[in-house]
Amino acid sequence: MKKSTQSVRAGSRRANNMGGLNTPLLSSSAIEYLDDSEVRYPRYFNTLNHDVVAEKMNALESAEAGLVTSSGMAAISAILFGLLESGDHIVLTEGLYGGTHALVVTGLERHGISYSFVAPETGCIETATVPETRMIFLESPSNPLLSVVDLAFVAKFAGSRRIITAIDNTFATPILQNPLVLGFDLVMHSGTKYLGGHSDLCCGTVNGSTKLISKIRNHLVNHGGCLNAQDCHLLERSLKTLEIRVGRQSNNAMIVAQSLDHNENIKRVYYPGLESHPGHDIAARQMEGFGGMLSFELQDGINPVSFLRNLGLVNCAVSLGGVETTICQPIATSHQKVSAQERRRLGITANLLRLSTGIEDAGDIVTDLLQALARTVHEG
Ligand SMILES: Cc1ncc(COP(=O)(O)O)c(C=O)c1O
Repeated sequence: MKKSTQSVRAGSRRANNMGGLNTPLLSSSAIEYLDDSEVRYPRYFNTLNHDVVAEKMNALESAEAGLVTSSGMAAISAILFGLLESGDHIVLTEGLYGGTHALVVTGLERHGISYSFVAPETGCIETATVPETRMIFLESPSNPLLSVVDLAFVAKFAGSRRIITAIDNTFATPILQNPLVLGFDLVMHSGTKYLGGHSDLCCGTVNGSTKLISKIRNHLVNHGGCLNAQDCHLLERSLKTLEIRVGRQSNNAMIVAQSLDHNENIKRVYYPGLESHPGHDIAARQMEGFGGMLSFELQDGINPVSFLRNLGLVNCAVSLGGVETTICQPIATSHQKVSAQERRRLGITANLLRLSTGIEDAGDIVTDLLQALARTVHEG
């Protein structure tokens, strides 16, 4: 089945004898077990509404197995702490979501796990691996600079050394990029973003082989982090429109990126859809579209906070991937916890703004950005 059909149909269950088209909401935390093949419980991640979302994501990510979690960070921490052991080493690419960066720098060494952050380039990833390297974790496109990594290359290299490859696929969504098909072992999403898509859910997903997912699940059963049935149900509903939302958001982002590129008040636009982007060719090869996220840097002297306050339609807010266009200043939000020195080194400046295009009319989004820019420059 094609992605649009999978989004609507995969995993869904109809209520027995009721005639309704939608999966029923099973809110029970006490579930009869005598006639079931397994004991079901919300914190075992296997109630009806968990299974339905996991199966839809299995279809969309071409995975054998999957789990839905209470947040994206729950999925990331379960991957790291469910699979890595004391003495292991992990290679991560620089410029990851700030929360992931914070978890790594504050959490891994306490468990005897060493790590290396490297530039998001295949050569650097290869060079950083040592005999103890057990996992490579990356984002592509990354948050907030939209770096792109050649996933098939990394998967091949890691496979030859029995290193587990895991990717945060939040920015790309399963509609535009399927890392498991390119050879990755695990793919996770902050479902809070595009999967939920309406800025009203906090959730996460992880998909991969039955073997790895069952190890992660064993960890989660002990550590918690399950999503409640109501939110699983809402997430299933949201996923039905994922393909059309992401298609529109991706088209809008391309129009916005082209409109801001070469604007005299903008220093640089980061969007893999632009031919000038260093990762454009790889993105064109491994993605079905370039996504709804872009970043841009205002020229020196333009006050970013004044610009944000001058916007009318576009909301200045944390998070991303909703139907409404939102913008944020990473140094004050997603990358607040990354040290100022590290941010400077990565190019995450005060004038860098991250835009998540919604499904509104692209012309309306561009008009709002340009009027806010003109007004801010005029105010001096
Ligand atoms: C790329 C990326 N990964 C992971 C996360 C964490 O997800 P959550 O907030 O759902 O825990 C975020 C949140 O902003 C993100 O942007």
